[in-house]
Amino acid sequence: MKIFSGSASQKLGIKIANDLNLSLEKIYLGRFSNDESQVWLKAEDFNTTAVLIQSLSRPVDEHLVQFCLMADALKRGGVKKIVAVIPYLAYSKQDKIFRTGEPLSVKVIAKIIQTAKINKFITLDLHNKAIVGFFESPVIELSAIPLFLEYFRKSNLKNTLVVAPDAGSIKASTSFAQSLGLEVAYIDKKRDLSNGKVSILGINRQVKGNNIVMVDDMISTGSTLIETAKFLKKQRVGKITVAVSHHLFVPGVQEKIEQSLIDKLIITDTIERSNKKQYKKLKVLSVAPIIVKELRKI
Ligand code: R5P
Repeated sequence: MKIFSGSASQKLGIKIANDLNLSLEKIYLGRFSNDESQVWLKAEDFNTTAVLIQSLSRPVDEHLVQFCLMADALKRGGVKKIVAVIPYLAYSKQDKIFRTGEPLSVKVIAKIIQTAKINKFITLDLHNKAIVGFFESPVIELSAIPLFLEYFRKSNLKNTLVVAPDAGSIKASTSFAQSLGLEVAYIDKKRDLSNGKVSILGINRQVKGNNIVMVDDMISTGSTLIETAKFLKKQRVGKITVAVSHHLFVPGVQEKIEQSLIDKLIITDTIERSNKKQYKKLKVLSVAPIIVKELRKI
């Protein structure tokens, strides 16, 4: 097995390779003077199973093109099999046609990703489980939830409630609460499609005096969690801890979280941060062991 990591997932790639007692393969990743992406895999032997790691993080379209070029280079180099690890699959929120005239974007992206034949996909916490249906090859969907459960089991959960921040998270939040032996409350959230503004309309039970845990698949603008925290603090809850699989690191969002009523944000390293700033409220858990466990089965 050889590990090839694109520019979106260098740090995670190194962790995964190290855990497998391997090194990342040397690749030249750059741009031609006309701004086109340039990829040159410098592996000496292509007679192998190639693991191609690339998160579709910002700049999304650039990382997407780089992924496709790397997959094509592996195929043409003659690898036996390509296993693509896409820790965060971009465009997954565009999993429906919300208004006439919009594309089914995630299906288009799935097609583009498969221009070179990929034998297996490994990803984490998809926004919508049905997205696997847009892929021809098997998709293994892993989850950061076991990492979050391990974290919370070590903390004081007395007087704690799990809150599902929107309808889409009800199932996952309920099963998360059950695993921790906690009860769950449901938020009624509305998002204005024209400007993205989030409004919290209500909650289905009393939460006064409870500490709150919320789990979600991603933070993008931060509005869902920041607005929910505001709403919950008005109901006089205690500490609010949030665990999110993918932090998209939209510029300025972590700064907003630091100023918000959220007390702690636990994320994973599915998406690499470009700045090295330290944030007081941020804790990062690595998904490398979860991915490595899956890769050992290949
Ligand atoms: C919504 O369906 C998702 O699960 C997340 O709650 C949402 O994507 C978060 O987005 P934002 O941070 O922009 O509110």
